[in-house]
Amino acid sequence: MLKGKHITLYVTGGIAVYKSLNIVRELIKNQAEVQVVMTKAAQEFVTPLTFATLSQRPVLTDNFVAQSAQDDFIPHIKLARWTDLAVVVPATANIIGKLANGIADDLTSTTLMATSAPKLIFPTMNTTMWNNPAVQTNINTLNLMDIRIVDPDSGFLAEGEMGKGRLPELNTIMVEIFKMFTKPLLAGTNVIVTAGGTKEAIDPVRFIGNNSSGKMGIAMANVAADMGAHVTLITTVHDSLSSPNLNEIKISTALEMQKELENHFESSNVLIMAAAVSDFRPAHKADQKIKKNDDKELYTIELKKNPDILKEIAKKKSGQFVVGFAAETENLIPYAKKKLHEKNVDMILANDVSKAGSGFNVDTNEITLIRHDKDPETWPLMSKSDIAAKFWEYYEQNIK
Ligand code: CTP
Repeated sequence: MLKGKHITLYVTGGIAVYKSLNIVRELIKNQAEVQVVMTKAAQEFVTPLTFATLSQRPVLTDNFVAQSAQDDFIPHIKLARWTDLAVVVPATANIIGKLANGIADDLTSTTLMATSAPKLIFPTMNTTMWNNPAVQTNINTLNLMDIRIVDPDSGFLAEGEMGKGRLPELNTIMVEIFKMFTKPLLAGTNVIVTAGGTKEAIDPVRFIGNNSSGKMGIAMANVAADMGAHVTLITTVHDSLSSPNLNEIKISTALEMQKELENHFESSNVLIMAAAVSDFRPAHKADQKIKKNDDKELYTIELKKNPDILKEIAKKKSGQFVVGFAAETENLIPYAKKKLHEKNVDMILANDVSKAGSGFNVDTNEITLIRHDKDPETWPLMSKSDIAAKFWEYYEQNIK
């Protein structure tokens, strides 16, 4: 897949510079054409000659510009056009700061800024530096600029401490590089996911809620965003990845969820209704905290039925693929089929919440796919992220 691809490898000054040599070898083995650019600091760790030998090309450094000016060689413009993928590895806090703030004061920062090729950045640094708010702000800025940042690994650092800041393993780096050349399977697909249990207020401090952790919905949203979909996540819990593909809308009640869903449904291709919607809400929310009365033993909260959000939105379908969930404790398949028909959805992902390892607040689930005119298909017990990955592959192969 990398054959003939033009990859520019920017090496900046950190102890992990020596590990970049193996990346160059791997890229060359995969028949990529590799141009290495090194900062002054990187050259303190490893000489350009080593990189030049492995990449089979002269390395570009600040000195190289001066020498080649007579040859009419303008690296930052030539490289901009030549590069299919720019990889910065290792990336120091310094180059991250420059990229985020538009500072171009050496060959590396200038050429990186001049290229419109996709960029892949592998930060490595001391844990405290990584956690520094300035660095994190710069990372967020790069995320917004659609630059792919791969978080450093945790483990033993060169300065003798344990912490986050290590360069990921070679294999992970290569997978990330390959991913940059793979067309995302869900590119161009607009997905809405609802997640978490709704909270229906009784008074300003109390609510009616449920046990849903939101994990299944969040996994569905994260994996879809990772596969290139544009995801709108309407959620009562905040636990999703920060991704330029994911727009998180935080809500609390069923009515708020319904309103947001109505705002976004028309422009969507897929709806995954993973939220645990409360079927009832207090008919009246008290303005002040309800006080207990010493003479009274019995209290009554009058409940009002919430709308069936899924059933109502499915009436407005205009080509969307609509998926509901069914959490049951008995008669899984008949009850799930009933929901499929009554709510007029395209698929129900049913699970028996009374089974060990399934349902609320656990990381695993056993799902049965129910569709019109198809036999139910039960998947083995697996993690919620694996279910999400399997679901989106299924969607891409059978429905999209
Ligand atoms: N759902 C909804 N609005 C509700 C209740 C449920 O949109 N007021 C959605 C859920 O998000 C889920 C599906 O409908 O995708 C099935 O939810 P579930 O709680 O299993 O079933 P209910 O319809 O509430 O029926 P019952 O509680 O009687 O099983």
